[in-house]
Amino acid sequence: MSARELEGKVALVTGGSRGIGRAIAEALADGGAKVAVVARDGERAKAAAAALPGSGHAGFACDVSDPKQVNATLEAVEASVGPVDILVNNAGITRDNLLMRMKDEEFDEVIAANLKGAFNFTRAVTRGMMKRRDGSILNITSVVGLIGNAGQANYAASKAGLVGMTKSVARELASRNVRCNAIAPGFITTDMTGELNEKQVEELKGRIPLGDLGTPADVASAARFLVGPDARYITGQVLAVDGGMVM
Ligand code: NAI
Repeated sequence: MSARELEGKVALVTGGSRGIGRAIAEALADGGAKVAVVARDGERAKAAAAALPGSGHAGFACDVSDPKQVNATLEAVEASVGPVDILVNNAGITRDNLLMRMKDEEFDEVIAANLKGAFNFTRAVTRGMMKRRDGSILNITSVVGLIGNAGQANYAASKAGLVGMTKSVARELASRNVRCNAIAPGFITTDMTGELNEKQVEELKGRIPLGDLGTPADVASAARFLVGPDARYITGQVLAVDGGMVM
């Protein structure tokens, strides 16, 4: 991988203010891209953008589940940062519950943020990418979307949906040189997994062949590769970054 292989590119990372999204934003900025950090909280998005290496980055407030906000945000990004060459759909939430207790809102909110949110941004960037005959889209799914998880019927459905969407978008846009891939992280140490207690973490480690949880940086280096020129012949793929949990 060359040191500045993303020089001249504009990347938009949803949920880029913390956790995995923030690490991806850092890795892409490190590769030379200008990064638009999108998060629900605009102040946090701006602070995250300001802390990135290099210049030309900016932060934007947007709820990805709202198509109007998404379209307006893309306009604002293109006006101030530039046309988007790389989209990373990373924003995601969990609302875990056992199936029998799961409320309609818990199901709907997770689908709206994780699946519809990715659709909203993908649809919004497609016209520009097709016109320029260049673009790369990366969806952050989860191993849970591949193998399921008790208590996460909503989340697993949203993440499995992203896998289907990734492959459909890859097929639909390939002739215009727009690629679409996904990363399925396993257990990564972030706020999302911070709620686990020590015993749960030890149990988890026993299920991971490489014997440890991953870090946001582990996901970010795979993301940088997949959106960049070294992956020019890769589309429609789901790469598990999970210490060997799913194989
Ligand atoms: P996190 O909770 O630390 O960060 C999620 C980010 O998404 C936050 O910046 C949040 O503001 C943003 N977000 C959530 N809903 C949004 C909405 N409607 N509009 C705009 N922004 C929104 O989570 P983490 O752990 O960094 O996860 C990032 C992605 O990776 C998620 O899609 C998650 O499902 C996925 N993932 C995480 C794993 C883990 O072990 N942490 C494992 C597998 C997948």
